[in-house]
Amino acid sequence: MKILVTGGAGFIGANFVFYMLDAHPDYDIVCLDALTYAGNMETLEPVMDNPKFRFVKGDVADREAVFKLFEEEKFDIVVNFAAESHVDRSIEDPGIFLRTNILGTQVLMDACNEYGVERFHQVGTDEVYGDLPLDRPDLFFTEDMPITASSPYSASKAAADLLVMAYHRTFGLPVTISRCSNNYGPYQFPEKLIPLMIANALADKELPVYGTGENVRDWLYVEDHCRAIDLIIHKGKVGEVYNIGGHNEKSNLEVVKIILQQVGKPESLITFVGDRKGHDLRYAIDPTKIHNELGWLPTTMFADGIRQTIDWYLENESWWKNIISGEYQQYYEKMYSNR
Ligand code: NAD
Ligand code: DAU
Repeated sequence: MKILVTGGAGFIGANFVFYMLDAHPDYDIVCLDALTYAGNMETLEPVMDNPKFRFVKGDVADREAVFKLFEEEKFDIVVNFAAESHVDRSIEDPGIFLRTNILGTQVLMDACNEYGVERFHQVGTDEVYGDLPLDRPDLFFTEDMPITASSPYSASKAAADLLVMAYHRTFGLPVTISRCSNNYGPYQFPEKLIPLMIANALADKELPVYGTGENVRDWLYVEDHCRAIDLIIHKGKVGEVYNIGGHNEKSNLEVVKIILQQVGKPESLITFVGDRKGHDLRYAIDPTKIHNELGWLPTTMFADGIRQTIDWYLENESWWKNIISGEYQQYYEKMYSNR
């Protein structure tokens, strides 16, 4: 089996590469990644010498390069993680989100049609369901809910999902889509809530909580996400969407307080800042389908996962300090000063 993993130098893609090399040592894994600000070769360092792994630097929206790679490698399965993934950046500059997330997906699927694959798997997000009200804890996202979107990021992911389904119906491309809730774990870029708060807390810097901090996210440890995708690409039904989430809802304020408590820093570091434009209130996944059809359940509970994650950031300071010492400084200044 030969699998193309796009976006494998990013957070979830890299964790998926590690997971697959471990779970299927006989598989060949090729990673295609453009190494944007979010891609990091240091992350892939541990597998660069593995003969079952190949890294290719390239853009998923570059048709010529993608077709050449498919011609060379003859993939059995394609798992598309490559994306611009940060909501706040999409509010600043939507254009690149449309190019990578929509046109990049189209180019990959055109290559799949041309060269043939057993499966094209699109790594989607629960953000395509919009949001749920805070006062209706009985409501959850199910796969049959209509697609809607609040940010340019979620609109681009929703458009990609629609295109994936259209390629299935029109061209018979064997597709699956997964829609996962918020991931956390090792190697997450420190622009996202959990690693940003860990890094700031360790440096005794203010922890910028948007709005009132009441917004709720449904947190899943990244390895549980990787295992779900492995199940879907092998056992999932073609043409189907699978939601992935583990009923682990927490308000942002709760998450930030847990981090502060675990690193032994005071809550006085919490600073309420201006809200995100169009800020989604609550995400909550109903994972019944993937549980009933594929037997998936999360294995890492939040109390363990957040401890492991904090320990990882403590033990791998050079990984994230290299990131935050570079152009990240300008990003942080632009997004957070006078907010
Ligand atoms: P990330 O930002 O950490 O990584 C994205 C990777 O894609 C980077 O390595 C980057 O270099 C690469 N990339 C960007 N543009 C590219 C292009 N044009 N060609 C090739 N590579 C390109 O993102 P992540 O958090 O790991 O998310 C991965 C996927 O999972 C995304 O599709 C995202 O929408 C989805 N997702 C993320 C979460 C989450 O909580 N992080 C939850 C559900 C779904
Ligand atoms: O739900 C899945 C999505 O989860 C993925 O599709 C996205 O790629 C991923 O980035 C994530 O999106 P969110 O916008 O939910 O994640 P983020 O870490 O940016 O923010 C989580 C919550 O924390 C959100 O309510 C905004 C808030 N927040 C975030 C940052 C960075 C703050 O209060 N302060 C911050 O500094």
